[in-house]
Amino acid sequence: MSETYDVVIIGGGPGGYNCAIRCGQLGLKTAIIEMRDTLGGTCLNVGCIPSKALLHASEYYAAAKNDFEGMGIEVSGLAVNLEKMMAQKDEAVKGLTEGVAFLMKKNKVKHYAGKGKIVGKGEVEIELNAGGTENVGAKNIVIATGSEPASLPGIEIDEERIVTNTGALSLKEIPKKLTLIGAGVIGLEMGSVWSRLGSEVTVIEFLDHIMPGADAEISKQSKRIFEKQGLKFRMGTKVTGIEKLKTKLKVSVEPAKGGDEEQLDADVVIMAIGRKPYTAGLGLETIGVGVNQRGVIDTTDHFKTNVEGVWAIGDCVAGPMLAHKAEDDGAAVAELIAGKAGHVDYDLVPSVVYTSPEIAWVGKNEQQLKDAGIKYKTGKFPFMANSRARCNHETEGFVKILADATTDEILGVHMLGVGVGELIGEICVAMEFKASSEDVARTCHAHPTLSEAIRQAAMGVEGWTMQM
Ligand code: FAD
Ligand code: NAI
Repeated sequence: MSETYDVVIIGGGPGGYNCAIRCGQLGLKTAIIEMRDTLGGTCLNVGCIPSKALLHASEYYAAAKNDFEGMGIEVSGLAVNLEKMMAQKDEAVKGLTEGVAFLMKKNKVKHYAGKGKIVGKGEVEIELNAGGTENVGAKNIVIATGSEPASLPGIEIDEERIVTNTGALSLKEIPKKLTLIGAGVIGLEMGSVWSRLGSEVTVIEFLDHIMPGADAEISKQSKRIFEKQGLKFRMGTKVTGIEKLKTKLKVSVEPAKGGDEEQLDADVVIMAIGRKPYTAGLGLETIGVGVNQRGVIDTTDHFKTNVEGVWAIGDCVAGPMLAHKAEDDGAAVAELIAGKAGHVDYDLVPSVVYTSPEIAWVGKNEQQLKDAGIKYKTGKFPFMANSRARCNHETEGFVKILADATTDEILGVHMLGVGVGELIGEICVAMEFKASSEDVARTCHAHPTLSEAIRQAAMGVEGWTMQM
């Protein structure tokens, strides 16, 4: 073995690289192995970052097209230059992935570019991207190999016409007709991007509601808004096949509950039906690391697998498949390895959908509280009554706060509105400190800001909303 490390991390995404940084800070001799050419994982390369760059640019375009005139701004000759839009997206990705490489150096983490495989207890073989192999020793191995898109049997992804998130973020032309399979986060975010740029977008969803996991009221109201923006939804529908013709795709669909088949034309189809852990070629079986039927690595409390010295974090273990959850896992596992008390509170991982308006929530939704038999009070405030939202002409949506009926502790907050992805941070802090709705209601918030809607909703829990 060329070298032995305190910690060898396999996978350089948000889970892996944040784990590496924390290990470095804690003085552990650390290596990170990543098979992509750049660090940053799904998130930086083909996920969070490029999608947000396109969402931002397309939102500006849509605003210039639809909203500027009403604010007294006249624009002529407005057009999309897709090549440039993609280039600015690539620029953001490049800057950030290079930033991660810099952080590895800064924290004295050795970066191996190659595919890692566990070949024995405490031993990892690296198939180097540059050719050849190298074996390293590891007192601790952290598996942070992330996830890959799920797909449907019989449908072959070519990343040009039938694409996953990877292809969807790099289309060379704006498709005339775009079909998305799945009305989850990717369906709504990518559907928004391409619809704003001019595609006719149809989203096919198996269930009868969009955004499973979101509060039902938010799901219903946001669907109406997205429909107004031009997205078409086919709910309770499943895709049974896609035929590739020379110039178009024929998508076969039928009602989820059974019924007549129908065919829809599309130029591009985006598969967005969820993700599954990626552990191919990792050698888990060699040392007997346990996985469940869905391929999720089994971890006991605190990221330990069933094999001593092997830990697992991020998308390849249970929990929400989100970058900030993977990051928190990464820091916590580093602290545990260093003998400290690493911990993540999975009840307080926020979710944000970066559509326009955004959707954000943390904690329990109404259905979850009802199912658990917990009595709660509700405070709600619409952005229509918020002064800043009115100045900005961005009045869609609301804030809803759910608090324990007896103790007043905030149990969940659900928001639909422009900028709520930023506002949710306030609630995460409040909930970390077990705040009551009254704590938030009596906290001074700057005027005029969107955050005042949170305060007014909190006042509403006790029935004293003042500005409505
Ligand atoms: P990953 O980021 O998947 O990283 C794992 C890395 O391990 C990969 O780079 C892979 O190449 C590498 N790897 C795998 N096996 C090996 C091996 N054997 N050897 C070496 N390297 C290996 N989350 C959010 O919180 N906010 C968002 O806005 C958001 N947007 C998203 C948009 C899209 C389109 C997608 C697809 C996902 C989005 N996500 C978002 C989810 C987020 O990207 C993931 O939750 C996050 O990347 C998980 O981090 P991870 O470190 O567990 O895994
Ligand atoms: P998702 O789980 O959010 O949504 C998948 C949708 O597809 C669900 O509504 C599901 O009911 C539907 N579906 C499943 N099988 C189907 C079928 N056969 N036919 C029709 N519909 C079907 O998954 P998605 O959108 O692929 O995203 C994957 C993950 O990536 C997310 O769960 C999330 O963890 C992460 N992500 C996070 C983002 C964010 O935080 N803003 C943005 C994008 C992705």
